[in-house]
Amino acid sequence: MSGTTLTQLLYLVSSGLFIMSLKWMSDPETARRGVFSGVAAMVLAVAGTFVGVLGPGFGHLGLIAAAIAVGAAIGVPLSLVPLTAVPQRTALSHAFGGLAAGLVGSAEFYIWQDPAHAGQLTPFRTTALVLEVILGYLTFTGSLMAAGKLQEIRFIPQRPVTYPGQNLFNIGLLLLAAGLGAALVLSPTAAWAAVAFPVIIVLALAFGVLLIIPIGGADMPTVISILNSYAGLSAVAMGFVLDNKLLITAGALDGSSGLILSIIMCRAMNRSFTNVLFGAFGQVTAVAASGEAKSYKGDTPESAAQVLGQAGLVVIVPGYGMAVAQAQHKVRELYDQLKKRGVTVKFAIHPVAGRMPGHMNVLLAEAEIPYEDLLEMDAINSDMPQADVALIIGANDVVNPAARTDKGSPIYGMPIIAADKAKTVYAIKRSKNPGFAGIDNELYFLDKTFMLFGDAKAVVGDLAKNLAGEGGGH
Ligand code: TAP
Repeated sequence: MSGTTLTQLLYLVSSGLFIMSLKWMSDPETARRGVFSGVAAMVLAVAGTFVGVLGPGFGHLGLIAAAIAVGAAIGVPLSLVPLTAVPQRTALSHAFGGLAAGLVGSAEFYIWQDPAHAGQLTPFRTTALVLEVILGYLTFTGSLMAAGKLQEIRFIPQRPVTYPGQNLFNIGLLLLAAGLGAALVLSPTAAWAAVAFPVIIVLALAFGVLLIIPIGGADMPTVISILNSYAGLSAVAMGFVLDNKLLITAGALDGSSGLILSIIMCRAMNRSFTNVLFGAFGQVTAVAASGEAKSYKGDTPESAAQVLGQAGLVVIVPGYGMAVAQAQHKVRELYDQLKKRGVTVKFAIHPVAGRMPGHMNVLLAEAEIPYEDLLEMDAINSDMPQADVALIIGANDVVNPAARTDKGSPIYGMPIIAADKAKTVYAIKRSKNPGFAGIDNELYFLDKTFMLFGDAKAVVGDLAKNLAGEGGGH
């Protein structure tokens, strides 16, 4: 078998595994298999590329090894970040993907501009190359900005930065880059083209930054998903430039899954795409947060444990605070104690609870809580009036009734878990601080609501201990 045939064969198997990987990853039962198949697909893709590159000789081996060493030196530490930092880590991955596409496109452009390669820069290929470069570089800076906002880096403002005529200016910049690109397609080998090309790169880099600064930190997960889609599209364009079918397939999967995910997130927050990208969400939150001080009713883990132990149905609503506190294993202990007492326990999973899609599912799966007890918002909401207790663990925005009633609220219209419909509500959080959207939560002031102030891991641990101590576990 020739090297090229082997490469194509490896690419074919890799494409199939990438497709299956996405399918398997969409269900918690098969997600692990999905991850393995994605890794296997990538290994085969790299192997196929090696066979293709090394077929003609080993001249580039040193360079390739050096590139892999640099990539591993960055990638391995990145893989070790805690789960709460995964959104910004993902943004960094997209930044590197975009940069790689941009650099490959730039290199190909200058190689093919050389008279020795006359005829390579066909209109089709140059169009793909311009798209690759614009999308690649804007993804690079846009994703770096998004990662910086999520990491709360000091010199990157969290709040949306807006100024008059902003959208017009940004679109003008993009149109200028596209116009220069179109001119390049018409005469790619002209002397001025070598100068126009870096101008396109600078415009794309600037556009990436300007695209992100009007978007508030709260919308970053959605924006990251959109940038994921851009990185995928840039890989598709790169596939056309390099005539590489695997890049086209994998890029299209990446591009479309990123787009679908951002649509799902927008729906879960009842926001439109344009509202996320141009709505400057987060600006109003500072005003909304400074409401008058009202009083909460506190309770102790001892008496809360008693109420929980006597309940028929307990619905646990986890949120970002459970992730921060890494409370999932204590939650499992509490779940076990309640089950021992014959209490029915269900988990209400809001699609944007936490800071990334599937955040709660991942944590609860890690604690081996059975999947059948994890219910999506739509499936659990009709049961909420039957719940004796809604136990909120570090969630805030996703149970805030203002989303239903307060037209002035920044989360107005976002579907929520109907925790306020339960007979009694217990809420675990550390303080009276608001959640991510920066607004007060009426739920905490209701007569039926009792606050259990403290770190989620400690409080849930106390609840479980109290239930065990009261004879439930012994
Ligand atoms: P939030 O509204 O952010 O509330 C989390 C609460 O957890 C806070 O009020 C905080 O209160 C508490 N907390 C923090 N650390 C804690 C700890 N160690 N122990 C106990 N409590 C702790 O979270 P949510 O309800 O999960 O809502 C998610 C938000 O993120 C929504 O606004 C959503 O739109 C946004 N968002 C999410 C996504 C995805 S994909 N998940 C995407 C875009 C936007 P204290 O400080 O008082 O403890």
